[in-house]
Amino acid sequence: MKLFLDTAIVSDIEERVSTGLIDGITTNPTLIRKSGRDPWKVYTDIIELGVEDLSIEVNGESSKELIENAVCVNKNYGNVATIKLPCTIEGLKACKYLSNIGLRVNMTLVFTVSQSILCSLAGATYVSPFIGRMDDNSLDGIKLINDISNIYASNGVKTKVLAASVRDVQSVGVAFGVGADICTIPPKVFDDMASHVLTDKGLEQFNRDFLA
Ligand code: E4P
Repeated sequence: MKLFLDTAIVSDIEERVSTGLIDGITTNPTLIRKSGRDPWKVYTDIIELGVEDLSIEVNGESSKELIENAVCVNKNYGNVATIKLPCTIEGLKACKYLSNIGLRVNMTLVFTVSQSILCSLAGATYVSPFIGRMDDNSLDGIKLINDISNIYASNGVKTKVLAASVRDVQSVGVAFGVGADICTIPPKVFDDMASHVLTDKGLEQFNRDFLA
C-alpha cells in the first residue's frame, strides 16, 4: 500500500514529501500547464526534493516518437523517471519496448479491464485506471479497480494497480480495499486523510487537561 501525490506544484510536494509518507509523484500535461512553469525545471525541482519515482508523461503520435521522447526523459532524469504513456496501440508498443530495456512505464488513461490486460502484457510497471473520470461519466471507477486487481492477482501479474483521478478521501480507502497497490492523490486529499473533527475536538480537550 503506497501513496503518490498527483501534482506539479513543487511547494505542495515539498510540504507533503517531508512527512515521509509519499512514495512517488505523478504529473500530466494539464498539471504541468497549471503550474505555469517550464516542465523540465519542474521535474528537476521535484527530483531535488529526493523523490525517487516521478511519472513524466511523454508526447508523440507514433510509438517511435514516444520512445524517442522517453529515452530523452530517461537520459535527463535516469531511474527516477517513470515514463507515462497513453493506453493506445502506439503507447502499448512503446511500453513493450521501453519495459524490455528496463525502464519503468506507467500506462495512463485506462478505463477498461481489456486495456489493463494489454498494459500488463506490454510489461507496464503501473497501470493507471482513472476513478474520478469514470464516475464523472456514470461509470463505476471502483469496480474497475476491483476487476483489474482480481484479474492481476489470479494471473500472477506483476504490474501494479495505481488508482488515479482520485478526488476524495473515501475513494482512497475503498480503492485500497478492493486491491489497488498505490493511490495517486491531490495534496488536499492527502491533507484530508490526516484530519477528523473528532481528532481536533479530542485534542483540544486533552490539551486543556494537560494544563489543568
Ligand atoms: C494520474 O496520473 C492523473 O494525473 C490524474 O490522476 C488525473 O486526475 P483528474 O482526472 O482529476 O484530472
